[in-house]
Amino acid sequence: MSAVSSSQLPSPSSVTDVAAGLTEVGYLPGESTALVSYLATKLGKPVLVEGPAGVGKTELAKALARYLQRTLVRLQCYEGLDEAKALYEWNYRKQLLRIQTEADDAGWQHVQDDIFGEEFLLQRPLMTAIASDAPVVLLIDEIDKTDQEFEAMLLELLSDFQISIPELGRIEAKTHPVVLLTSNNTRELTEALKRRCLYLWLDYPDLEHELQIVRLHSPELDETIARKLVEIVHQVRELDLKKPPSIAESIDWARALLLLGAGDIDAQTFRETMSVIVKHRTDLDTVAARVGVKLEPAADARTNAA
Ligand SMILES: Nc1ncnc2c1ncn2[C@@H]1O[C@H](COP(=O)(O)OP(=O)(O)OP(=O)(O)O)[C@@H](O)[C@H]1O
Ligand SMILES: [Mg+2]
Repeated sequence: MSAVSSSQLPSPSSVTDVAAGLTEVGYLPGESTALVSYLATKLGKPVLVEGPAGVGKTELAKALARYLQRTLVRLQCYEGLDEAKALYEWNYRKQLLRIQTEADDAGWQHVQDDIFGEEFLLQRPLMTAIASDAPVVLLIDEIDKTDQEFEAMLLELLSDFQISIPELGRIEAKTHPVVLLTSNNTRELTEALKRRCLYLWLDYPDLEHELQIVRLHSPELDETIARKLVEIVHQVRELDLKKPPSIAESIDWARALLLLGAGDIDAQTFRETMSVIVKHRTDLDTVAARVGVKLEPAADARTNAA
């Protein structure tokens, strides 16, 4: 756990504070992102972050942890995730070993008291976040992948910040975690869950904002190329594609162009590298036909034609 005591941890005093703090740790928040993050730290309410893939939902939680100097506890959700993997589980092997080493004449009550102590508990992320001495940032990533039963279990945890273990009693949070839940919207979440959360819709950023993000991740890339890259990505997003490119793809494309030493994004460079931003066979055809053709031919092709 971090050596900083909780009284020394940064506590933002305004929305501008949060915006500056997140920027400092490498995350450029939009207006509503900074606002909702600020409210979350002050009101102690969980934030539900929804939006398309690759727009910075997960990264926001990581950046908040860096900025607030808190440990990030992450629960990655998947279909079939259950309490044993999310909350806690008894360490059966250790319990068995203990039973075997108990004296033969030890009574049942004695054995039971012994093997249902904290020592035999395997903490999973939700419990780690609740039981932590120092406040943490809890990321419940891709909550839409779980089922409604799991959501119901989470509700109790998110409203009371406590966990009941039948054999052990109640474990209450000693400190209040900042909680972020992310969802890609693959299923509608329950109203009950939404009611308990602040809501942040993260969308693709506007051109200038995305340019700043790309330049932050690839500062060596020439500004003119970076701008052209972002303009093209925005054009591509306008098309009706199976999977429009996200910020993650813009960043990857910038890195690829840098590695290849591209001096411009001409038609040829675009053809050669567009699979970095477009990842479906049919989308590739659409993009080549609608965006690729509008770009300048490569410099040598231009000379040949002259
Ligand atoms: N505002 C931002 N400032 C800096 N970097 C950003 C910002 N938004 C997104 N990124 C970068 O974009 C990439 C994708 O972000 P992230 O993985 O958080 O997306 P996501 O929304 O969680 O996607 P998915 O739904 O696929 O999990 C990361 O490399 C992240 O650093
Ligand atoms: Mg994510």
